[in-house]
Amino acid sequence: MLFGSAILSSLVAAVAATTSYEGDVTTKTVTRGGEPSVVTWRDETPTLAPDADIGLSLVPSHNLTDHDPQEDCPGYKAENVKKSGNGLTANLKLAGDNCNVYGVDIEKLDLKVEYQDDNRLSVKLVPSHITKDNESHYLIPSDILPEGKPGHAAHSDLDFEYSNDPSFWFKVVRKSTGDTLFSTEGSKLVFENQFIELKTQLPKDHNLFGLGETLDSFKIPPGTVKTLFNADIADEPLANLYGSHPFYVEERFDDGCASSHGVYLRNVHAQDVLIDESSLTWRPIGGSLDLYFFSGPSTKDVVKQYQDVIGLPAMHQYWTLGFHQCRWGYMNVSELREVKETYRAHGIPLETIWSDIDFMQAYRDFTLDPATYPKEEFQKLLQEIHDSKQHYIPMVDAAIYIPNPNNESDAYPTFDRGEEADVFLRNPDGSLYIGAVWPGYTVFPDWLAENATDWWSEELSKFHELLAYDGIWIDMNEVSSFCVGSCGSDLYHLNRVQTIFNSDDPGFDYPEKFEQSNASDWKSLMSQSSAMQATATSTPAPETPKPTIVRDISEERNINHPPYAINNHQSPNDMGTHAVSPNATHQNGVVEYDWHNLYGYQMSIATYKGLEDVFPEKRPFIITRSTFSGSGKWAGHWGGDNHATWADMHYAISQGLSFSLFGMPMFGVDVCGFNQNTDSELCSRWAQLGAFFSFYRNHNGWAYIPQEFYRWSSVEDAAKTAMKIRYSLLPYFYTLLEDAHEKGDTFLRALSWEFPDKSLAGIDSQFLVGPSLMVIPVLEPLVDTVEGVFPGKCQVWYDWYNQTKVDAPANQNVTIDAPLGHIPVYIRGGSVLPTQDPSYTTAESREGDWGLIVALDQDSKASGDLYVDDGESIKSKSTRIEFSAENGCLKATSKGDYPIEQPLTDITILGVSEEPKQVTLNNNKVDSKFDSKSNTLKISFESDNWSKGFNLNWN
Ligand code: NOJ
Repeated sequence: MLFGSAILSSLVAAVAATTSYEGDVTTKTVTRGGEPSVVTWRDETPTLAPDADIGLSLVPSHNLTDHDPQEDCPGYKAENVKKSGNGLTANLKLAGDNCNVYGVDIEKLDLKVEYQDDNRLSVKLVPSHITKDNESHYLIPSDILPEGKPGHAAHSDLDFEYSNDPSFWFKVVRKSTGDTLFSTEGSKLVFENQFIELKTQLPKDHNLFGLGETLDSFKIPPGTVKTLFNADIADEPLANLYGSHPFYVEERFDDGCASSHGVYLRNVHAQDVLIDESSLTWRPIGGSLDLYFFSGPSTKDVVKQYQDVIGLPAMHQYWTLGFHQCRWGYMNVSELREVKETYRAHGIPLETIWSDIDFMQAYRDFTLDPATYPKEEFQKLLQEIHDSKQHYIPMVDAAIYIPNPNNESDAYPTFDRGEEADVFLRNPDGSLYIGAVWPGYTVFPDWLAENATDWWSEELSKFHELLAYDGIWIDMNEVSSFCVGSCGSDLYHLNRVQTIFNSDDPGFDYPEKFEQSNASDWKSLMSQSSAMQATATSTPAPETPKPTIVRDISEERNINHPPYAINNHQSPNDMGTHAVSPNATHQNGVVEYDWHNLYGYQMSIATYKGLEDVFPEKRPFIITRSTFSGSGKWAGHWGGDNHATWADMHYAISQGLSFSLFGMPMFGVDVCGFNQNTDSELCSRWAQLGAFFSFYRNHNGWAYIPQEFYRWSSVEDAAKTAMKIRYSLLPYFYTLLEDAHEKGDTFLRALSWEFPDKSLAGIDSQFLVGPSLMVIPVLEPLVDTVEGVFPGKCQVWYDWYNQTKVDAPANQNVTIDAPLGHIPVYIRGGSVLPTQDPSYTTAESREGDWGLIVALDQDSKASGDLYVDDGESIKSKSTRIEFSAENGCLKATSKGDYPIEQPLTDITILGVSEEPKQVTLNNNKVDSKFDSKSNTLKISFESDNWSKGFNLNWN
């Protein structure tokens, strides 16, 4: 689908319009979800040609059988091998005639192997002679994308072995287990100017994870082609989505022993990764082979070792853990205010209200629409938001409108300042590259341009003076463009051109089984849907040309249509479709071909730096759509344009687990679904599931029925139930974010990471939040039970709600009651969870009394910790308290200088076998209540200086 998120035509068609004109602005009243709202719509402007976004239709090369690089190519021979204390170097020479299968073979390569630390091995293969044509991409500078620091491995657990028989191959072995982790034996290395192939063996029944960004089961099944090419594609199973993460983890379970290792290919080029029963084949269309191997041996270790290379994630402000409400289509200040106030009136916690592009004047970044979002009124709303300790986040798109040169009144200072500072991408001939996005013809910031970050930072500062935002949402940064090539070069004098809001998705699809599950919703909505259907006109889809094969092989690279066509799901498969074309040129001469996958990553860095200027002391909060390995250091991510379907809600879990592997702990998806209409049942379940992701945001597409949690009472109740848990556990969630930031721990966790067991590998229907909380959500309609497993032999689990031990066999599916409105949540025995009495906002929740839940394991032990700081400053004082319980004694020890002022008033101990004779806190008797049915001991008191440490005894 080309315009997965572009759904206006059906809506416009459905307008029961009252229309008034003011300049080129048309104001219309549309009916959405039964409620009229006013939208502005600019017509009488030229429209971007409907076929402007159709590139060449290409047959994906992985489907071709006439050229098999493994058959046709000679491979290499290693010579001049020099071993050093820390690795080896060698020269590789082509072992026969050129095969030139998808490019021109590189005759000579340099190999460098380095044991960088005890668990990390680096293997680099680069062309020996960097030519003018490839200089820009073979070595990505480490100041642009971090690389593993050279080091010395005193006792490396990894071993590199190679052979020239019959041609060069190598393997990486984990010494401690004798396991071969990676082996190219039996395959040939292919290294051409526009194609590289490296093939490694995989064990039978492999358990492979990572290689994103795709929407897929968490475990990668054989037969998968993962394409890493950042694309503006509305979440579509198996498609290459918004970001690229060339990293995988493999979990192995041999003879009852579990071990994991990881591989990162530090290559930013478009690439296919082919996974079958027994091999994994990497096929980038440029760059070098810059490989890192991580020996684990646990998945948690691998993820930390990966983050040692790509960088640890940012620490986020406390408030970012609150609930966020967004939609595309909040059409004016009053509507935004009304949403905020209705949440308050219903008592559903709302932390942050977001604006999509609707507030902008003609969709131009950093502007306000004077008709619908007048400055004073908007600023007043922002003041109210801040007065009530809530927050506001607006959208900023990557594309920058280019004003019409023939229209003096079409001023856009952001563009003028950017042009002056020379910060936009260019065509190979030096002219501006002009594509098209929401505002019409646009240019695109060149993040490699010398002045780009300063210009961007200044724009963000000016914007903050206009609108006192608290964070920034960056979108369309793959980078998306709605036409092929520099389509506006000769046409931008027509600006403001209207881009096509086209859709094959008419806007009245509902979740699977909607009719049966939502009888009353159905009745009221059907009448609207049929009215919409009756009036909808569909724009005929332009014809897609017949697929062809382009295979020009020459020394000079074919940038726009390389000989190897990746499996780009952006129909019709041309890399220039719906994206800035590969030949767009950066200031230093680098072409997008060599850089595309880093666009969103670099935009995140520029935005981070900009926000550092806006809020010198505070941690920048950015949510970005496009990412690359290491983006977590600068931003969080949402899963893009999903659908209001049960399937997409299920996929959210594997998306979340994958982004844990990718070092991006701040992650969530559009709760209740972005495309299509949601319904109350799906939205109830999703409102509860979303509450256990770090980033919890309800976001909705333009033409669909409203889905704020207060729209249905069942959804409201469900959301409140889950939010009560979330807000009580904010201290635990925040501690997890800090652990991710400090040590590379993960927020969402797969069961097998905590309980390495073959039967648990790949489960993506339930998950853990940190080490101590397990969620088993309902992921299908019309049921009131859910199947789930309680992992870990000898592991005790407690039900969150009744606090009693779960009586279930380990690692086996059991049926759990889960009527609508109930999300099964369990506490892991052996944990101590810090809580605070929840309130409406996170700021108020931080004022709540403290509590602790001590969930004893089978040996009556438990431990946990709590991290507290001021929740916003980059350099805050902080305190960490460690809790450990055994033999009827809970000890808290504290380190740090952040003062914790709120008292500790409740401790609940789960799994106490008999009533204690007495309970003392620091040797003073305190009140307690023992429940012999649930075996819980509730202790109440008021301690003000508990955070300095204490001893609690129950015996
Ligand atoms: C695409 C984004 O993915 C979506 O969330 C947003 O609503 C639209 N762009 C409009 O800005």
